[in-house]
This record gives sequence, C-alpha cells and structure tokens, in this order.
Amino acid sequence: MFIRSMNTAVKEHKKITVVGAGNVGATTAQLIAERDLADVVLVDVVEGIPQGKALDILEACPLWRSSAKVTGTNDFDDTAASDIVVITAGLARKPGMSRDDLLKANADIVGRVAEDTRRTSPSAVVIVVTNPMDAMAHVAVKAAGFPHRRVIGMGGVLDTARMRSFIAWEAGVHPGDVRAVVLGGHGDLMVPLPRLTMVGDKCITDILPESAIVKIMERTKNGGAEIVGLLKTGSAYYAPAASVVEMIETMFGIKDEPLPCSVCLHGEYGISGVYVGVPVRLGPEGLEEIIELDLTDDEKQALHESAEAVRRLTGKLGI
Ligand code: LAC
Repeated sequence: MFIRSMNTAVKEHKKITVVGAGNVGATTAQLIAERDLADVVLVDVVEGIPQGKALDILEACPLWRSSAKVTGTNDFDDTAASDIVVITAGLARKPGMSRDDLLKANADIVGRVAEDTRRTSPSAVVIVVTNPMDAMAHVAVKAAGFPHRRVIGMGGVLDTARMRSFIAWEAGVHPGDVRAVVLGGHGDLMVPLPRLTMVGDKCITDILPESAIVKIMERTKNGGAEIVGLLKTGSAYYAPAASVVEMIETMFGIKDEPLPCSVCLHGEYGISGVYVGVPVRLGPEGLEEIIELDLTDDEKQALHESAEAVRRLTGKLGI
C-alpha cells in the first residue's frame, strides 16, 4: 500500500469552549475548526446534540486540512483549562420579541455558565453572545468574578458587518472597502455613525444620498429582527458566528484591526459601570485598549441613551 510521507506537523492548539450547540454555537465551532484556529469543545445540556454536531465537524476536518480536535459533551468539566469560552447558550428570539424580552431566562443560564467557567477555566477570556448581550456580559462578569477585561460582548462586529454589507450593495463596492462605525448597546438604540463610516477614503455622506443612508441605518438597527422575521423559528447565526471568529482571530494576533465590542466602561465617553459597544483593541488577555472617538454632542447623547437602556436591564436584574 502506498503511504504518503508524513510531512504535515500537527500544530499545537489552543482550546476554545463553545457553550450552546444551537445554530450560533455549532456554526462558531465549525468556523474555528475549518480555519484550524483551536481545538473546540462544544457543550450543551441537551444529550447527543453537542456530541453529534462535534463529530460531524471533526469528520470534515481532513477535507479542510485542519487538525483541530472537536469534541461534544454535556459535562462542563470537559471544558477545563480553556483559553476562550464563548457563551451562546440561551433562548433565541421569536418573531415580535425584542432582545430584551429574553432578559430573566437568559440571565439564569449565563450566570450558571459563568460560575462553571470560573471553576473550570479560571484564566479564560469569555466572549458573550447570548442576548440581551450587553446585559448578559454584565451578568457573566459578576458571576465569574473575572476582571472586566476578560469578559467581552459580541455585538458591534455583527452590527458593523450588517451595515457594511448594506452600504456595499448600495454603493456597488466591495464590502472589504467599507469601514462602518456602530456604537452603543446591541439593541434597538444602537448608534450607527454615518459621519465616521467610510468607503475607501470617502465618507458615505459624500457618496450616498441622505435618504439611502437613513434606510441603511434603520436596516442595521433592525438587522437581527429582519432575520428573525424571515426565519420564524430562531435568529441569525452565520454572521454572528463569523463575528465571534473575527474577535478570536484578533485575540490570536492573526488580525490586528480595532473592533467594536461590548466592554465595561470606566469613565470613557463619560460612561461608567455599564457594558456598551465601543471600538477596542483585543489581545490574548482580552480587552487591551478602549479607543475614544471624538463624538458630536448628538452622537454622545445617543450613546448615553443606549448605555442607559443597558443599565435599565441590569437594574431589572438587580446587578
Ligand atoms: C442578531 C442577534 C444575534 O442581531 O442578536 O441577529
């Protein structure tokens, strides 16, 4: 039998746990494995689902030339010593529901997952995806007892990706040439900023009519609900999972652009003690730097209103 010489070294892998084997969790696990970024443990309370999906992804790895090890489990202990824990577990929106309607149920789930993370992976960086995401990041940081820099919410990467895709379509350009800025909570009061949104070196206010920009801003704010409305059962997952992976690649130093993420502010933008989306630099230990943009008074006020909406949610949870 012909045996090919073994010239492909198995690379040393980091370990990423993805909590929740639903659409967002499984797609995140798939993208991590496909890019050979890390070994993945997919964990869920439902028996068989994380095991089955993980095995399916593992069996695709030879075709992707990936040596990532992908396992599924119902036992959180199998996630021990993870470098990154991605929390996607929780209920998803149904048509007509806002992200905030999920508050209490998902706070219980995220709180339990964060406590388990503290026990099993005390040095991990936690990426929170579960909605309402900014409030859930706050729940996670409290329950894990981690420093704020190690608990980061995914929202802005998704919101800006949506805005970039709408602009690219409207302007007939490659989405890679569009840089969009969306600040604030990942909710109805998010703050898209056309003034700082560029196609190449041109501001979109110079290349698109105001009516088109207004429509794009509205569509960005409703981006999640638009997909919930179409799918009927469940919410978006391809772009959310790709957004998580963008954060992971940045933490691993594969990419080095600033990203909009939900982090706890301590006076930046005149806001304190609340998770809200702002541009940041990420590194292997999580948050490295918060970038403070120069905002107009109206933009600042919109950001403050969005932050207050997040604070109302955490207030309802008594945290
Ligand atoms: C969305 C959900 C994931 O925006 O928040 O699609």
